Amino acid sequence: MSHNTFGHLFRVTTFGESHGLAIGCVVDGCPPGIPLEAADVQIYLDKRKPGQSRFTTQRREADEVRILSGVFADDNTRRQVTTGTPIALLIENTDQKSKDYSHIRDKYRPGHADFTYDVKYGLRDYRGGGRASARETACRVAAGAIARKVLPDVTIRAALVQIGPHKIERERWDWEEVNRNPFFCPDPGKVAFFEDYLDGIRKAGSSVGAVVEVVAEGVPAGLGAPVYGKLDAELTGALMSVNAVKGVEIGDGFATAELTGEVNADEIRLGNDGKPLFLSNHAGGTLGGISTGQPIVARFAVKPTSSILTPRLTVDRYGRETDIVTKGRHDPCVGIRAVPVAEAVVACVLADHFLRHRGQVGKSADWPFVDPQYYRDRDG
Ligand SMILES: Cc1cc2nc3c(=O)[nH]c(=O)nc-3n(C[C@H](O)[C@H](O)[C@H](O)COP(=O)(O)O)c2cc1C
Repeated sequence: MSHNTFGHLFRVTTFGESHGLAIGCVVDGCPPGIPLEAADVQIYLDKRKPGQSRFTTQRREADEVRILSGVFADDNTRRQVTTGTPIALLIENTDQKSKDYSHIRDKYRPGHADFTYDVKYGLRDYRGGGRASARETACRVAAGAIARKVLPDVTIRAALVQIGPHKIERERWDWEEVNRNPFFCPDPGKVAFFEDYLDGIRKAGSSVGAVVEVVAEGVPAGLGAPVYGKLDAELTGALMSVNAVKGVEIGDGFATAELTGEVNADEIRLGNDGKPLFLSNHAGGTLGGISTGQPIVARFAVKPTSSILTPRLTVDRYGRETDIVTKGRHDPCVGIRAVPVAEAVVACVLADHFLRHRGQVGKSADWPFVDPQYYRDRDG
């Protein structure tokens, strides 16, 4: 199978299946000399790993990462740093319970990738979804931890802002709250409600969709390139490639259709530092596919998990109509564990663009430019 690589200069290749021996990734193009220990990657994997609350799958995976290559102890500092060569990261699968999935080996789960993998490749690894399993997203989280180190002074955070039809109150948004509850929810007033609501969904053997928002602050103006390397296009493409994502928007996204030009205009003044100060951020931090220096804001919707206990109509691979119940372990709302994945994917795309910008442009021009009148006055 091809197409398991993304990025141009910060290039990530992931490999592995849900029930294979291991999953992992190779990050190629990371600059040399960046301090990197397994622990730097592990903290992000620990946020995504399953079985941390009753609201995520009970599959038990330690998701312990090992760095196989691309690092070396620097002689001067004695710290382990990147060498500029490919960094291979490995995460062993330790909790593969194939028997949970044996009853679906020939049947196609509606909403999962069983039919499409089978019809395309003529066979599929039906154990836990094989390569279509979101276990692959652990590799992106690992790569994202390295990407963050490539990006100087950029903060990338994500949060769950909606479960089913229930949205958070944005006025109560508190980033500190995100890591205090099992939902990565930024609204302290919504957590108890989400607990009750999702308990009901979980006990009914059902599932529900969600919306995740990711914000990158400190991204310098100038990242992204016209016209096929637009930052917003590559961010949305990368986020759309995350399992179960069915819609992605940047800034006000689909809501901009309802705005007038006056409201949508992110008016510009001069800040105290002499730099442009945008009075709003409907654009979500990009214009013409290039970052403005404002926070990059992306949002995506994930569909409800397809593994549910209510029988659904389907067919098997031998052309017979049947129905299916997906027993076993699953996430009642995959949006929760998609939060660290969202941060990682955005980090990888931004790191790639940071290096591409440096490669083509080097240092951006100093702004504001000198008015030609200044030279005319000076030189007469
Ligand atoms: C973090 C995360 C966990 C997921 N866990 C499950 C799961 O337990 N059961 C399931 O049916 N789908 C799960 N999914 C979604 C499937 O991987 C996805 O629906 C499937 O690969 C089909 O791809 P598509 O929905 O992108 O078209 C999960 C997705 C994410 C992001």
